[in-house]
Amino acid sequence: MTQAPATVEMIRRDRRHDDMGEIPRAWYADDPGLTAFFNAMSLAIEELEHYLLRSVRRFAETAKDTPLEPQVKDFLFQESIHSREHRRYNDQLQEQGFPAEEMTQVLRDRVKRMEARRTDLQNLALTAAIEHFTAILAHQLLDRPEHIRANGYPPLVRMWIWHGAEEVEHKSVTYDLFCMQVSGFRRYRMRIAGILAATRVMLPFLYWVTWRFLKTDGIQWRWKSWRVMLRVTLVYPGFMRRMLRDYIRWYRPGFHPWDQDDRALLFRWRDSEPGKGLT
Ligand SMILES: [Fe+2]
Ligand SMILES: [Fe+2]
Repeated sequence: MTQAPATVEMIRRDRRHDDMGEIPRAWYADDPGLTAFFNAMSLAIEELEHYLLRSVRRFAETAKDTPLEPQVKDFLFQESIHSREHRRYNDQLQEQGFPAEEMTQVLRDRVKRMEARRTDLQNLALTAAIEHFTAILAHQLLDRPEHIRANGYPPLVRMWIWHGAEEVEHKSVTYDLFCMQVSGFRRYRMRIAGILAATRVMLPFLYWVTWRFLKTDGIQWRWKSWRVMLRVTLVYPGFMRRMLRDYIRWYRPGFHPWDQDDRALLFRWRDSEPGKGLT
C-alpha cells in the first residue's frame, strides 16, 4: 500500500472524557509500576503532540488542493483533541503528588532544543517517525485490548483505546506530507535520522519518568515495583516486545504506514463503541 486506503476516513470526534473522575493512584492492575509506565506515556504524548502540531502546520500549505489537504486538517483536529484530553489526565497526576509538571518541562526543553537544531523538513521527518511509534503502539492496543480492559480503570482504558483508534486512522498523514516534500535517497536518509532521534528521545524518557513516578512513593528500587510492568510490556501481552517487529519495518526503503493494514482492527473498535465510534 502506498497511501491510506480510501475506506479509512478520519472522524472528528471531539470527545470529552468527563467520566474520568478521580483516577485511582494505581489504576492499571492495581500496580504502581505498570500504572507509572502508562502515566509516563501520557506525559510524553501530550508534550510531543504540541510539537507534531507545530511541525505539520508549517507544511499545511503544501497540501493545499491535493487529496492530503482534508487529511491534514483532520489530523490537526484529532491531535489537538488528544493533547487537550491528556492534559486533564496529566493534571491529575500532578495533583496526586507525582512530578508531572517538572517532567513535562524537561521534555519540553529537550524538544525545543531538537526543534531549533533542525530544519523544518527535518522536523517533519522526526514528526512522521514519532507518529510511527504512536501508530504501532495503537496497533497493539487495538489488537490485544483484553488485558487492559480486564485490569484497567474503565474511563482511562476507553480513553487510551479511543486515542489508539484515531492514531491508526491518521497514521499515514505526516508520512505522506513528508514524502510530498522530498524523494529518493534524501527522503530515506531523513527518515532514518528521524526514527533514530525519536527513539533516542522517547525510550529513555519513558523509563526515566516511570522511575521518577515510583520514586515519589519511595519504591523505585524494589523489584516488585517493576516486575508486573516488565511482564505485561515484554512478556504477556508483551506489547513493547511485539512493537519491535513493527518498529523495524520503518527501516525498509519502500515502507508505508499502511503496509500494515489495520482496517479490520479499526472497524472492530468502531463496532464495539456506542454510535459505531462516529462521535
Ligand atoms: Fe494523538
Ligand atoms: Fe498521531
